[in-house]
Amino acid sequence: MKVLGLESSCDETGIAIYEVETGVIQQRLYSQIECHREYGGVVPELASRDHVVKAAPMIIDLLQQNGGVHSLDGIVYTRGPGLMGALMVGACIARALAWALDKPVLGVHHMEGHLLAPMLSEDKPEFPFVALLVSGGHTMLVDVEAVGEYKILGESLDDAVGEAFDKTAKLLGLPYPGGPELAQLASTVSATDLVFPRPMVDRPGLDFSFSGLKTFALNTMHKLTPLSDQNRAEIAFAFEQAVVDTLQIKCQRALKQTGYRRLVVAGGVGANRTLRKRLQQMSAKLQTRVYFPALEYCTDNGAMIAYAGGLRMAAGQRDENVTDVLPRWSLETLQRLN
Ligand code: KG4
Ligand code: ZN
Repeated sequence: MKVLGLESSCDETGIAIYEVETGVIQQRLYSQIECHREYGGVVPELASRDHVVKAAPMIIDLLQQNGGVHSLDGIVYTRGPGLMGALMVGACIARALAWALDKPVLGVHHMEGHLLAPMLSEDKPEFPFVALLVSGGHTMLVDVEAVGEYKILGESLDDAVGEAFDKTAKLLGLPYPGGPELAQLASTVSATDLVFPRPMVDRPGLDFSFSGLKTFALNTMHKLTPLSDQNRAEIAFAFEQAVVDTLQIKCQRALKQTGYRRLVVAGGVGANRTLRKRLQQMSAKLQTRVYFPALEYCTDNGAMIAYAGGLRMAAGQRDENVTDVLPRWSLETLQRLN
């Protein structure tokens, strides 16, 4: 079964062709970074408009190089969660194409795409596992028993971790998207006397709270003003250490609570090298295993949507009627496969 996958939930237009039997055939990614940079963050209306302009030519180009539109068995797209307008662009294109070609169509959960992205690697995790989903909009620990069998163990009560990276980066005067920029600045130092709090680690449970860290960063900046470049780098370093420590402590707790021996880390912040290194060290110590998607499948992309949708479509799932996009959509409501 060969599917076209379309991701348009935020500021990336991702298109991929995936064959269930053989894997990803090819993918294309267009990032809207330049479009939003002057505003310091994603402007939803501009995101929708840019998807309108970019998606169709990218699909045409990709299909021309890979067997043409008639070689497809189905079309899958991100139905949610995400920005309403951006999701609607992808949904309209996917459904119009499916209708015109008389092919099946299926809306995919964006976070299920992230969660299953490590399955695109050679060395795939087996079920069950704990998933740490860390993106710009979500921070969650999920008990993953099978495809579609998800139980949220804990989540952020306020800012998502990617959002905390982006907001703190903005305070430090770094350009959007701040996460990778802040990580880069942090990597220029290896120690500091600054100590940021590790939010909620002294309380039981697996929920997170990251909004206090940016306030802490702001207060630290005020105290150190006028800020030197060294001060800024040390703030970035101390912030990143606090985030990584907090995530690691909660992952360890989730592994203990579930008794599982496998941890999957996915979503944009999963690209963070300090986090990857720390979780690898933790896994070596606990004799568990940690799996990360390849970097190209870590941040938003079409391949993860094509994979999750292809898997469900191959199992017979279809959207029978025209369905709404779902800007808010709980992972726990998904249907279990097999
Ligand atoms: O999963 P993703 O591409 O989009 C969403 O679904 O939100 O995640 C984007 C988030 C942004 O907040 C971005 O700043 C963050 O992931 N991010 C990083 C890194 N790369 C991306 N945060 C920290 N370190 C990185 N290397
Ligand atoms: Zn995402």
